Amino acid sequence: MRNMLLLALFTLYAAMLSIHLARSGFRARAHSAPSPAAARHRPSRVLVVGATGGTGRELVTQALARGCEVTALARDPARLKLKDARLTVVTGDVMDPGSLDTAARGCDAVLCALGHKKFLGPTHIQSTGTRNLIAAMQRQGVSRLVVETSLGLGDSAGRLGLIYTWFTLPIVLPFYFADKARQERVIAGSDREWVIVRPGALTFGKATGRYRHGRQAGSVLLTRSIARADVAAFMLDQCTSDMYLRTAPGISN
Ligand SMILES: NC(=O)c1ccc[n+]([C@@H]2O[C@H](COP(=O)([O-])OP(=O)(O)OC[C@H]3O[C@@H](n4cnc5c(N)ncnc54)[C@H](OP(=O)(O)O)[C@@H]3O)[C@@H](O)[C@H]2O)c1
Repeated sequence: MRNMLLLALFTLYAAMLSIHLARSGFRARAHSAPSPAAARHRPSRVLVVGATGGTGRELVTQALARGCEVTALARDPARLKLKDARLTVVTGDVMDPGSLDTAARGCDAVLCALGHKKFLGPTHIQSTGTRNLIAAMQRQGVSRLVVETSLGLGDSAGRLGLIYTWFTLPIVLPFYFADKARQERVIAGSDREWVIVRPGALTFGKATGRYRHGRQAGSVLLTRSIARADVAAFMLDQCTSDMYLRTAPGISN
């Protein structure tokens, strides 16, 4: 009887968290369906936030390979371990607005792959950091913002598969995902040319160039994965395409 009660309470909690994430993340409005891709010029300089992370490193490497000049924001530049004549590393922190001004200066687009491992308590790093980033973009006149969040938010709630939806998100990552939902609201409420990219479970696999994006990404049953390299390529594509402008496409295998 006691176990049944605990199970019922847990199920109720997981359902409430799912509903919270579904309601609090950004939801695409019916009229904001993607417009056909519009060719834009390749940005000459991009800022990568979270450059020392898994996706961030891919963003830096692939942006350089596409011929862009790259500014990488890093709390500890020694962790980046990448050198290139077209790469500028700015020491900074998303919680330090001054460093974001320095990093965003002269850029045409910002790619943000911010994340952290402070899962155990309330956190505002992603939402406050992104608010600071947007304010710096406004001051520096940078219009295009592409941000990596996650499947499971907004109208993609449930699409990280059963285990994430009913265990990982409500039990292991409730604070982290609550802040991700706030982060999406900050982005969606901004006046920038933003695209939110919501990946499935990330891997360090090689880029395949074959993945699903948009509303078909993910699954309500199984957790679908995606290589960080593919996410980075898709994010870079969003700098030069208006297909998903001001929407939040998922991306997964
Ligand atoms: N892991 C998954 O399966 C999965 C699935 C879906 C979505 N996501 C999301 O995808 C995003 C990228 O994940 P990832 O694993 O590729 O990245 P990651 O390796 O966790 O890297 C996160 C980056 O954010 C930086 N960062 C953290 N706090 C910062 C601060 N205060 N100021 C500036 N930079 C800061 C880190 O810098 P330091 O090197 O200095 O720490 C690092 O460069 C995250 O938002 C993650 O939640 C992950």
